[in-house]
Amino acid sequence: MTDGLSASSISAGLGTELIGRKVIYRSRVASTMDEARREARQGAAAGTVIVADEQTAGRGRIKRLWLTPGGNIALSVILYPEITSLPYLIMMASLAVSYSIEAVTGLAAQIKWPNDVLINGKKVCGILVESDVRRGGVAYAIIGIGVNVALLPSDYPEIETTATSLAAETGGEVSRLAVIRRLLVEMDRLYQSLPGGGAVYEQWRQRLVTLGRRVRVVSGSEVLEGIAESVAAEGSLLLRRADGSTTMIVAGDVTLRETKG
Ligand code: BTN
Repeated sequence: MTDGLSASSISAGLGTELIGRKVIYRSRVASTMDEARREARQGAAAGTVIVADEQTAGRGRIKRLWLTPGGNIALSVILYPEITSLPYLIMMASLAVSYSIEAVTGLAAQIKWPNDVLINGKKVCGILVESDVRRGGVAYAIIGIGVNVALLPSDYPEIETTATSLAAETGGEVSRLAVIRRLLVEMDRLYQSLPGGGAVYEQWRQRLVTLGRRVRVVSGSEVLEGIAESVAAEGSLLLRRADGSTTMIVAGDVTLRETKG
């Protein structure tokens, strides 16, 4: 089944200050990021959300593809934040996703640095932040969120062992509408607490499944191994190497290893 989404069913009575006050629904797009960028360049209101039922060219971090067949969640939120708030956008988005999954399904959700949301160790959501930063400040920032809701990972060999979905974890149907509405409320609440992002950073840090774990990090052309020791306030990961030295990683893809130490 796919529950019918519409702009009005998402935004009606939401009660948010900013995020979701305007919702644009499309049944099928290449990527909600492209739609959102076009809207932002045309001066869309802050907090405008583009939701699609299906993406034909969804994109992930590091130029990966993001699968969005119908029945899942693909949305992008347009914001015009202060430049000091930029590092906190991925933190607040991953927190909002994990809070909304927990509220709607009762499942426990964790965050893998920097912003993958996991259930039982498998990825259920990916987040992509794209921004246009100029000398005068942030022209716009777009937070893209993809949540696997109905998707069955066993139908997709390329993600079968690493991904999950809300349906796979609950063994039943999950309302996309309920997850999206709660997600927008949580994002709105967290966004109000910026630009001083201390509270968001602290909640995000506490939810990271990565800290204290042995990890393998692919960062650009480098592959690094070590213990994920801490995260800095602007989001970088501090990796302790086997020789005792530390490396600060600004962006990368983390694989959790089995053992500690
Ligand atoms: C990742 O984990 O690599 C990030 C995936 C981000 C996917 C979302 S789905 C909505 C928005 N539109 C896209 O094309 N990408 C993001």
